[in-house]
Amino acid sequence: MKILVTGGAGFIGSNFISYWLNKYPGDVIINLDSLTYAGNLDNLTEVEKNYGDGALPEQRRYWFVNGDIRNTLIVESLISKVDGVVHFAAESHVDRSITNPQEFLSTNILGTQTLLEAARKFKIKKFLHISTDEVYGSIETGYYSETAPLTPASPYAASKASADLLVRSYYETYKLPVIITRTTNNFGPYQHPEKFIPLFITNLMEGKKAPLYGYGLNRRDWIYVLDNCEALDLIFHEGRIGEVYNISTSSNEISNIEMSSRLARLLNQPPSLIEFVTDRPGHDFRYGVDSSKLRNELGWNHKYSLKEGLLKTIEWYKNNELWWRKIKEGDIYSSYYSGQYKK
Ligand code: NAD
Ligand code: TYD
Repeated sequence: MKILVTGGAGFIGSNFISYWLNKYPGDVIINLDSLTYAGNLDNLTEVEKNYGDGALPEQRRYWFVNGDIRNTLIVESLISKVDGVVHFAAESHVDRSITNPQEFLSTNILGTQTLLEAARKFKIKKFLHISTDEVYGSIETGYYSETAPLTPASPYAASKASADLLVRSYYETYKLPVIITRTTNNFGPYQHPEKFIPLFITNLMEGKKAPLYGYGLNRRDWIYVLDNCEALDLIFHEGRIGEVYNISTSSNEISNIEMSSRLARLLNQPPSLIEFVTDRPGHDFRYGVDSSKLRNELGWNHKYSLKEGLLKTIEWYKNNELWWRKIKEGDIYSSYYSGQYKK
């Protein structure tokens, strides 16, 4: 099978490509990514070596295309060559969506629509749309099922919810074979150090302050990225067309302050490095999604406990200092690393 992966130079996309090419020796992947600040070809060095330009021409199974999902010409030329699409490409950081929402609406909504239109034109066999638990909005206690209303709070979440609704409309109107997934917070190798866990790991490793928003009481349910990749794989192959699947562990839920102290402890750093800073505006208190549909229908179960996932992640950031130092030292938005909402 030939698959177009969008946003494959980002965190989850690059983990997914490597997972997929290793698991399915008969498959070919084209990775379309415009290499925004979040796209990083260093994430794909091994993939290029094993399956891309490092492989013998007749054994090559991976191609990278530097292009934008909003570019109809590029999108059509690629979609016409593949059987399925796995759509990760997005602006993904809530804090950036608060300071600059425009790009989020453009990429996340119009980019998705450009892909859907091409998928319709070329009669794609499967379109897996990667979405987030954030579209449901915050929930104090309990869990949202897939039929809950969407009440997003940040511009990021609103743009993802809009994209979800467009995807749904292409199923209802044109019978495009779509499936939507809504996953909780991922963590693991290759996550950009603007996000909570890698920001805290790398700041603590450097002996720098780690900025905790508000009182640190907000809660997240974390999933190790490889567990998410396995769920996406299963849903792509066996999920029902037109359906939404939540992906979550539920057992890995923890408050941000607990997560911060745990990271400090694992890195042998004093908790005094954790600094309370001004809260994120509209900060969602808690996300909770019920993944029993995925578990009961498709038999998925997560494999990594929070502890195992964190140990693997910390080990990876320790062994790949060059990878994250290059990003931290080169990124013009360095204020994001020192606490966007500093008092
Ligand atoms: P990321 O920011 O690490 O990667 C996004 C990738 O998309 C980057 O490589 C970037 O260059 C590319 N991209 C952005 N705009 C583009 C455009 N216009 N055209 C082509 N490529 C473009 O994001 P991630 O954390 O890997 O998330 C991937 C997807 O999963 C997103 O859709 C996100 O909403 C969703 N998601 C993420 C999480 C999480 O915890 N990271 C949780 C649930 C859902
Ligand atoms: P983040 O990784 O940005 O994911 P999301 O907001 O999409 O869940 O943040 C995870 C949690 O960590 C969230 O409650 C905000 C909090 N946070 C901090 O306290 N400090 C930080 O510097 C960042 C980036 C996040």
